[in-house]
Amino acid sequence: IQPNLLILDEVDSTNTYAREHFDDLPDGTLVVARRQTAGRGRRGRSWLSPPGINFTGSILLKRLEDGFHAGCLLGVAALSLLRELAPELPAYLKWPNDIYVENRKLAGLLSESARIENGRVTAVVSGIGINVNLPSDALKAIDQPATSLLAETNREFNLDFFSKKLAERLIRYYIIYLNSAGFVIREWMEANLLVGETLTLTDPLGKEHTGVFRRILEDGGMLFEENGAEFAFSCGDVKIDRK
Ligand code: BTN
Repeated sequence: IQPNLLILDEVDSTNTYAREHFDDLPDGTLVVARRQTAGRGRRGRSWLSPPGINFTGSILLKRLEDGFHAGCLLGVAALSLLRELAPELPAYLKWPNDIYVENRKLAGLLSESARIENGRVTAVVSGIGINVNLPSDALKAIDQPATSLLAETNREFNLDFFSKKLAERLIRYYIIYLNSAGFVIREWMEANLLVGETLTLTDPLGKEHTGVFRRILEDGGMLFEENGAEFAFSCGDVKIDRK
């Protein structure tokens, strides 16, 4: 697998584009858009980003059969690049699929199935939106605490350079994953700083719980303990806040 970068000027959503052109593009291709007109977030939300300011892209993973593993791969690859380009930034992974600095969101991931055979997912597209050059005043307009590389470091980043580096880093991790999936998953778990912390969790019915994030389960779910009782939650079901 070779790094392959496709930069588009405008597209509805890079996840949608990557799924629609899945059979025409090589495995591991990173599809990047300078502007997304209908970016999508998790749980049906939209993902807004002004043109030419942030990174929005999706990778085609033809040999991954599971969204959790795809999220791990993209999460650790993006985090390792962020740590290289901005070493002063204490960025970490927030379960299940975000990159945070303290309590501020820097990036979000969205993995979707790209091929289903006999009722089983056999390939995945995984997208990431990273706030790169979004200025502080624009961050305030976001409905949750958010941050950007610019706001944290006072430096502007060249988006084409960033895309090229991410395409390379992703392929490096893809190859590592294909040799040893466990290595990538362990790295993902180690970067998940919320394990062991007391959190507030909002369940699928909207009820809030306060308890401890005990550990990550084999399938990527979370084991949560509230008043001595343990509950398993799967990705996408819950919203968690650091206390
Ligand atoms: C979230 O935090 O809710 C996930 C956000 C994922 C956004 C990225 S931007 C590139 C790719 N294309 C999309 O439409 N969504 C993802």
